[in-house]
Amino acid sequence: MKGIVLAGGAGTRLYPLTIAVSKQLLPVYDKPMIYYPISVLMLAGIREILIITTPEDQDSFKKLLGDGSHLGCSFQYTIQEHPNGLAEAFILGENFIGTDKVALILGDNIFYGNGLSTMLQKLTSVDGGAIFAYPVRDPERFGVVTFDKDKIATSIEEKPEKPKSNYAVPGLYFYDNDVIEIAKTIQPSSRGEKEITTLNQVYLNKGKLSVGVMSRGMSWFDTGTVDSLDDATEFIRVLQRNQSTMISCLEEIAYKMGWITYDMLKKSVKRYGKGNYAQYIMTL
Ligand code: G1P
Repeated sequence: MKGIVLAGGAGTRLYPLTIAVSKQLLPVYDKPMIYYPISVLMLAGIREILIITTPEDQDSFKKLLGDGSHLGCSFQYTIQEHPNGLAEAFILGENFIGTDKVALILGDNIFYGNGLSTMLQKLTSVDGGAIFAYPVRDPERFGVVTFDKDKIATSIEEKPEKPKSNYAVPGLYFYDNDVIEIAKTIQPSSRGEKEITTLNQVYLNKGKLSVGVMSRGMSWFDTGTVDSLDDATEFIRVLQRNQSTMISCLEEIAYKMGWITYDMLKKSVKRYGKGNYAQYIMTL
């Protein structure tokens, strides 16, 4: 399975923070935001990753992440000229995806919880589409999914004014190869975007969309507003200060997955100077 991180968009809800800097490069406590979604794909066992950015920001992401070989991964880059919607990722990524299945994660989504890796690895052989539902207090900010009494999904709506449930759809999606052709057929919504929700509705109508409810042990943050960004930062800070492990240390994940050698892990410290991130890698 291939992976895509969508790190485009203007980030206008975070202005002035994002006037000169890409949202996905802002700090979430001690790391750039994009480290978190990349770590999720890596935990799913995905090593070939396409990073989609705005034209202005591509060089900064390349400077930060390179070609991925230091993590035993392969990172490629492509540009989204205009914020035409999430579903456009599969059209921009058509050649990269080839004949494989693909996972998409939004560059501003953070996931943390016990069993995450096992849960995601099961989805890399998905037939159809697989997404999640997460109970929230403000569902009108998100895609919203409803279920019947047997917990089978019955509808999905994008940012409804009057949500029919409190289950939001997090920005993490797994699809079979049909997703490329389906994405091409999607018409832009009233806000002019090819919505991922429309794509999910197509899979749902075909009876080929599985929606897994994330348990309360799982934490999910969309960091698209100042408050949610601040919440995520606080969450990572508190957890990391209470336990001896770091969340989303990419070198640690690569090493534990067996993708880099002990020697490569040791060498990676040099890049990170004398800060906490470097010191944490030393403890490994
Ligand atoms: C997007 C999707 C929405 C999803 C959300 C998750 O919204 O359109 O369905 O629930 O991501 O973060 P956006 O944050 O782009 O407005």
